[in-house]
Amino acid sequence: MNVLRIFYLVLFFLINKSLSSKCRTTRTGNDVFTDCHGRGFRYVPRNVPNDTTCLDLSDNELSVISNFAFFRLKYVSSLKLSSAQISVIESKAFSGLVKLTSLDLRNNTLDIHSLLENVFNSLPFLRILDLSQNNFHQYPEKVLENLSDLERLSINGINEQTFGNGFRSLSKLTYLNFHPCSITRIDNTTFDVFKNIQLTELILNCKIRYVEPGALNSFQSIERLDISRNFNNVRISYLLQILNGLMDRNVTSIDFSNNFRTIPAADVLLASQFAMIGAVCVKEVDLSHNRIISIQSGE
Ligand SMILES: *[C@@H]1O[C@H](CO)[C@@H](O)[C@H](O)[C@H]1NC(C)=O
Ligand SMILES: *[C@@H]1O[C@H](CO)[C@@H](O)[C@H](O)[C@H]1NC(C)=O
Ligand SMILES: *[C@@H]1O[C@H](CO)[C@@H](O)[C@H](O)[C@H]1NC(C)=O
Ligand SMILES: *[C@@H]1O[C@H](CO)[C@@H](O)[C@H](O)[C@H]1NC(C)=O
Ligand SMILES: *[C@@H]1O[C@H](CO)[C@@H](O)[C@H](O)[C@H]1NC(C)=O
Repeated sequence: MNVLRIFYLVLFFLINKSLSSKCRTTRTGNDVFTDCHGRGFRYVPRNVPNDTTCLDLSDNELSVISNFAFFRLKYVSSLKLSSAQISVIESKAFSGLVKLTSLDLRNNTLDIHSLLENVFNSLPFLRILDLSQNNFHQYPEKVLENLSDLERLSINGINEQTFGNGFRSLSKLTYLNFHPCSITRIDNTTFDVFKNIQLTELILNCKIRYVEPGALNSFQSIERLDISRNFNNVRISYLLQILNGLMDRNVTSIDFSNNFRTIPAADVLLASQFAMIGAVCVKEVDLSHNRIISIQSGE
């Protein structure tokens, strides 16, 4: 009797274990979603159905993505590889993913050496790329260079690094998010390479201390601007001059919240500073949590 019980316990344990290391596939219409997240995988599992369109491999322990790891998976359009402890991606790792439009590599340990020059060249339709929360100390300009269809990019914002030709090539980029962002200075040439790019959304939650008038001149198509959360670094009254250069633009929303310094805590907006906002045709401005105690009137 006891032997039988132990046998069942062991069987139960083995079945449980094999189920938890398996992915779950859900089919709805033409979408085949294979969920392999958080299952302790150390390599890309081989038994992913080859008609998968959406593959989630986040929260695993992959460390290396080897050449041809996804070669059978011709229909995948969205691939999630976030929080997977990835530090190396071999140059042909994404080979075969001919339909890929969205790639999420957020929160890994990638640096400039993890991404070989042509690693994204096999992804002609890539439109969304998330490289944020990695270990970049330089921008991976070379791998960005050929992503001419890219529309949305999230990436670490690195202090004292210039934006070069990699960014200049992203001619279809509409969304740019720096996360996390250690940038402290934005001068009137910082964003020069974006001059011919019709960016509509820019997110700068950084450590900005210094800005120059005209710093956002390159972003004449901007619709949504988020320059919030420069905690303890900059006062809103000083930061507002960054809007110089966006006069008469039609901007949907500007988030300027959480820009203050603790010493001294209070901030006063002069009429001329407040007028910077009025000069831009903006529908919605968030000035909350800026420790403003007074806004001075015109006359
Ligand atoms: C997908 O796998 C099945 C067998 O599991 C095979 O018959 C089929 O040819 C494969 N399709 C492609 C496109 O590789
Ligand atoms: C980032 O990844 C690490 C290790 O995989 C994980 O412990 C952590 O929770 C992740 N953080 C976020 C914000 O996803
Ligand atoms: C970009 O593509 C061109 C032509 O397709 C190729 O000559 C060049 O080497 C590629 N650049 C990189 C950095 O892979
Ligand atoms: C940029 O700022 C510098 C001062 O820091 C100024 O001399 C220069 O004229 C400015 N350039 C433009 C295009 O506004
Ligand atoms: C802003 O919108 C108004 C009204 O829709 C339009 O007349 C104007 O040309 C727009 N300005 C710019 C710079 O696009």
